[in-house]
Amino acid sequence: MFIDILHIQKFEKGLNPQYPEKSEIPATIVGYGEISSIFKINPYNDWVFKRLPLFVNDDDATQYIKKYNDYVHYLKEAGISLPNDNTFIVKSKKAVVYVAQEALNKADLCQNLLHTLSVKETLMMVDNIFKEIKKVSDYNREHKEVLLSIDGQISNWALVADKLVYFDTSTPLFKIKGVEQMDPELLLNSTPRAMRWLIRKFFLQEVMDRYYDIRLIYIDLIANLYKEKKHDLIDNSIVLANNFLPKNATHITRREIDKYYQNDKFIWQLFLALRRLDRWLTNRVFGKQYEFILPGKIDR
Ligand SMILES: Nc1ncnc2c1ncn2[C@@H]1O[C@H](COP(=O)(O)OP(=O)(O)O)[C@@H](O)[C@H]1O
Ligand SMILES: [Mg+2]
Repeated sequence: MFIDILHIQKFEKGLNPQYPEKSEIPATIVGYGEISSIFKINPYNDWVFKRLPLFVNDDDATQYIKKYNDYVHYLKEAGISLPNDNTFIVKSKKAVVYVAQEALNKADLCQNLLHTLSVKETLMMVDNIFKEIKKVSDYNREHKEVLLSIDGQISNWALVADKLVYFDTSTPLFKIKGVEQMDPELLLNSTPRAMRWLIRKFFLQEVMDRYYDIRLIYIDLIANLYKEKKHDLIDNSIVLANNFLPKNATHITRREIDKYYQNDKFIWQLFLALRRLDRWLTNRVFGKQYEFILPGKIDR
């Protein structure tokens, strides 16, 4: 179905970020990202919309969309399957980007398949995800000028007709001739103003770097099995991942996964707590509208 930008504009105008289902054009929340919120907006049921309220002005938003499209193009070139998409800039107080993406079935999301497939099938799926991630790493080796990142976590893949589809494209981190193309300050725009120095100093760089390194991408994916309550898959997944690492790479160990998970849990919990505090200050103390939509309690 054709998406009418006027309808998206109207949606943005009537959006209630605290209670999206109570917006003028009601929306259903499909998922919470780290920096975007993902909706279904009536009547476009074949699409999901990722709302990115990160931009100070139109130029920033246009620039983002250009990078986004480049990134999607490169990922496809690397052999990764992506859903159809479309982008929109909506003017509000600032400029808001909506990335529309073909809606995938809930049952096809690998995160859900983790809990419905047999152990053997699950490990096969995980192995295939490792294989997809390696395509990106191979692409990077073969293309000296372009370096692509990928957040390979299981929650970013779907299995559609036996083909893995990657859909977490709205953080387009990639380097051209060694220069990062995504402005890290954009990521910071989703965080509390008063805390930005802390985030900048302690973990922005780390989080931005980790998705360029195949070994760290694998570690990140495996450590997340804790969050998915799939501890029993961890040891086998480590073996599978190690098979895909370059010959000279140090093998991933269980100890390393456990340590990484503790650290990562701390980072994201702090991040979310700071955002909640910021929302409280914005709404209650300063009496303004808080722009972002935050998830409820995340069980880790
Ligand atoms: N195309 C889609 N179809 C169905 N659900 C989606 C789609 N894209 C995202 N989601 C849901 O929203 C969640 C977050 O989306 P994602 O693009 O990974 O955002 P983020 O970059 O913020 O992690 C996903 O884990 C999934 O549950
Ligand atoms: Mg994601």
